[in-house]
Amino acid sequence: MMEIPAVRWYQSIKERSSRRQFYSKIIEKPKLKKLRNLIEMINQEIEGLRIILVQNDVEEIFTGILGSYGKISGAPAYLAFVGIKDIPYLEEKIGYGGEAVILEATALELGTCWVSGTFKAEEVLADLDLKKSEKLYAISPLGYPEDRPTISERILKTVISSKKRLDLDKLIINKNDLEAELEWIKTALKAARLAPSAVNRQPWRFKIGENEIIIELDSQEKNEEREKNLDCGIAMLHLEVGALKAGVSGSWEYLKGKEVARFLVE
Ligand SMILES: Cc1cc2nc3c(=O)[nH]c(=O)nc-3n(C[C@H](O)[C@H](O)[C@H](O)COP(=O)(O)O)c2cc1C
Repeated sequence: MMEIPAVRWYQSIKERSSRRQFYSKIIEKPKLKKLRNLIEMINQEIEGLRIILVQNDVEEIFTGILGSYGKISGAPAYLAFVGIKDIPYLEEKIGYGGEAVILEATALELGTCWVSGTFKAEEVLADLDLKKSEKLYAISPLGYPEDRPTISERILKTVISSKKRLDLDKLIINKNDLEAELEWIKTALKAARLAPSAVNRQPWRFKIGENEIIIELDSQEKNEEREKNLDCGIAMLHLEVGALKAGVSGSWEYLKGKEVARFLVE
C-alpha cells in the first residue's frame, strides 16, 4: 500500500480549498522533485493510474463556469489524471491516488483544484502522449495561488457553496453511538467530510461498524461516467488519513453497486 504521512496530510486536509487564480511564479525545483517522486511511487503502486505533471502554463486550457467566473488562470503547471479504461475501480483509484498528490502539493504550499468539466480536453491531450487504452479523467492547476481568494473566486465559491459540507449526521447512514465513542471513527469521518467533490455534491455516505467503515454512494442515479466513484476515491484517502492520524491503520476492499469500499481495521 501507499505510504501515507498522516500528520502532514491531515493538516493539508484542514487547509486545502480549491484555488483558481494563480501567480505565474514558477515552482522551485526541490518541490517539483518531491511531487515527481510521489507521483512515480503512486503510478507504480496503483494499477491503471498514470498521473502526469506538465510544466506548461494553463492559459489556453480552462473555460469559465459562469461567463469568465471560475476560469482558472495564471498557473505555471498542471497535473493530469489519466487511467487505463478497463481497469476495475479505476475512478476510485484516480480519486485516491490523485488526492494524495493534491494533499502533498497543499503541504508544499501550492494551490490546486480538481477539474473534470471546465477545461478543453483537446488542448490538454495535445500536451500528453496518451495510449489508445488511456483516458484523461481530470486535471488540476498547480502553482502559487493568489494570497487571498480574488473577487471572482469568492463569487464562485459562494455560488457553489464550496465551504459548506453536510453535517456528519446527514452523512452517516446507520446513526448510532459508535462514532461518539470511538475517537478514530470521529477523526476519520471528519477528514472524509472535508473531501472535495464535483460541484460540492458530497455523494459519499458512511456506514459504521466496530472495526470498519463502509463508504456508499448517496444514489446511483446519473452516475454513468462513475464520476461519483471518483469523488468517493478522494473521500477514501481522507478517511484513511484521518484514521491513521488517530493511530488506526487499515486496508481497503472494493465493493459493488451502491457500496463503494470498506475500510477494515488491521
Ligand atoms: C472530481 C471533481 C471535479 C471537479 N470539477 C470542477 C470543474 O470542472 N471546475 C471547477 O471550477 N471546479 C471543479 N471542482 C472543484 C469543486 O467545485 C470543489 O472541490 C468543491 O466545490 C468543494 O470546494 P473546495 O474544494 O474548495 O473544498 C471539481 C472537484 C472534484 C472533486
